Amino acid sequence: MIFIKNEAEIRLMRESCRIVAEILYELGKMIKPGISTWRLNKKAEEIITDNYAEPAFKNYQVPGLKPYPFAICSSINNEIVHGYSSKNKILREGDIIGIDTGAKKNGFYGDAARTFAVGNISEENEKLLRVTQLALSRAIERCKVGSRIGDISSIIEQTAKENGFYVADGLTGHGVGRELHEDPIVPNIGKSGRGPRLVEGMTIAIEPMFNVGTSKTVEKEWVFFTADNSNSAHFENTVLIKKEGPEILTLLERN
Ligand code: MF3
Ligand code: CO
Repeated sequence: MIFIKNEAEIRLMRESCRIVAEILYELGKMIKPGISTWRLNKKAEEIITDNYAEPAFKNYQVPGLKPYPFAICSSINNEIVHGYSSKNKILREGDIIGIDTGAKKNGFYGDAARTFAVGNISEENEKLLRVTQLALSRAIERCKVGSRIGDISSIIEQTAKENGFYVADGLTGHGVGRELHEDPIVPNIGKSGRGPRLVEGMTIAIEPMFNVGTSKTVEKEWVFFTADNSNSAHFENTVLIKKEGPEILTLLERN
């Protein structure tokens, strides 16, 4: 069931999403060669606590896995999503790192991700980041009342294909609100004109994940890797559907 948010609920979503955006902004400034993902996770936890929120991912449960142990997912190079933080995981020049985080406050969740360059990165990595981010922005442009989820999915798929990248199998976006994962599912492949219609007050997390060499993935407990160990990028925003057009809730500056 898709839950439509009223004005009061949207105000609460804006606050949770603002905290998520702040975390991504602050972590982005810390991402340099030599820093550990453990320190990034710690900083995220501090920001969440300072804002009277709770980490959305920490202790998140899915059947068959231990509760997720961190406030952020930190996914380096060939890790697609759900990478673990560790004192031993030190960023190196040329790496790319996806940071995905969520916050819950006043009963509502925000969810967003960015992939960052560590120092100077290869042209291929640059392109991977640029194209994955482009897919997200093109998808958000399609978030109009009356459009369909398939319109979002198809532009993401098309952007990957046009640029020679691969959409990671089996990983999707989702509705977000009182739960981290609500209906509808927002796939990264699909046909325009299909799927649920977008209506005012829907809040969805759109999250393209593109790989360099293959769409195939390998799972080791929580962590998704590319099957060929090629690199992968992930960008995500929580987006509110409005009559006037989409509002990206997980941005620090809105106009
Ligand atoms: N943005 C990711 C998602 O929507 C974050 C989930 S990580 C988890 O699936 F640890 F909470 F599972
Ligand atoms: Co998400």
